Amino acid sequence: MKCFINKCTLNDIDKLIKVSIKTFSDTFSSSNELENMKNYLETAFSKEKIEKELKNQNSSFYLLYSGTDDDDGVNSNQSEGPIGYFKLNDLDAQGSDNHEDTSNSVELERIYLMKEHQKKGYGQFMIDKAIEISKNKQRSYIWLGVWEKNYSSLEFYKRNGFIKFGSHTFIIGEDHQIDHLLKLDLTNK
Ligand SMILES: CC(C)(COP(=O)(O)OP(=O)(O)OC[C@H]1O[C@@H](n2cnc3c(N)ncnc32)[C@H](O)[C@@H]1OP(=O)(O)O)[C@@H](O)C(=O)NCCC(=O)NCCS
Repeated sequence: MKCFINKCTLNDIDKLIKVSIKTFSDTFSSSNELENMKNYLETAFSKEKIEKELKNQNSSFYLLYSGTDDDDGVNSNQSEGPIGYFKLNDLDAQGSDNHEDTSNSVELERIYLMKEHQKKGYGQFMIDKAIEISKNKQRSYIWLGVWEKNYSSLEFYKRNGFIKFGSHTFIIGEDHQIDHLLKLDLTNK
């Protein structure tokens, strides 16, 4: 399995929207009302919203490509498009559920891998990169929110050492869902 990540710029908006909508729909459509999904997708992944997030200097997006990132592009699959991405929020870009000192933590707001590429180790590659980037920033933990019924992702985080520290309500359309809040201690990694 060969792959690499690229830190995103404003030129990547369309790619991020495509991966977001595809992954979110494939993952959550079967367990949500169509109308709620439609409303959520239109607002959460609109061009304006992603552009604003990209312009926040404390948020970083990393697109994942399969293949190798060689300079001449021979082995690169960039032309086939990205297969996933993750988003890290630092300092005041973090959501309000982390009540501790935000200069000590990083929020993993999204980690999305397109369905046809799941269960091959790419998800593990992305979370390892998220951990490496957060450690390089000298942060002591990563935290995130995950839907209580997103069982495979809960298992994925558990396998990677995340533990529950709370919960919050996530609103999708008119549906109020419970997210578990998880954190990973980086001080011994
Ligand atoms: C969360 C997510 C990024 C994890 O990615 P993933 O590809 O499933 O994760 P991994 O890379 O760890 O692979 C997981 C499984 O593949 C197996 N695997 C890993 N490498 C493998 C390989 N080379 N060959 C075969 N199987 C492999 C692992 O053993 C694991 O198996 P298990 O689940 O039966 O224990 C991905 O599932 C996803 O994007 N989901 C949809 C969006 C989502 O819900 N995101 C999280 C929101 S909070």
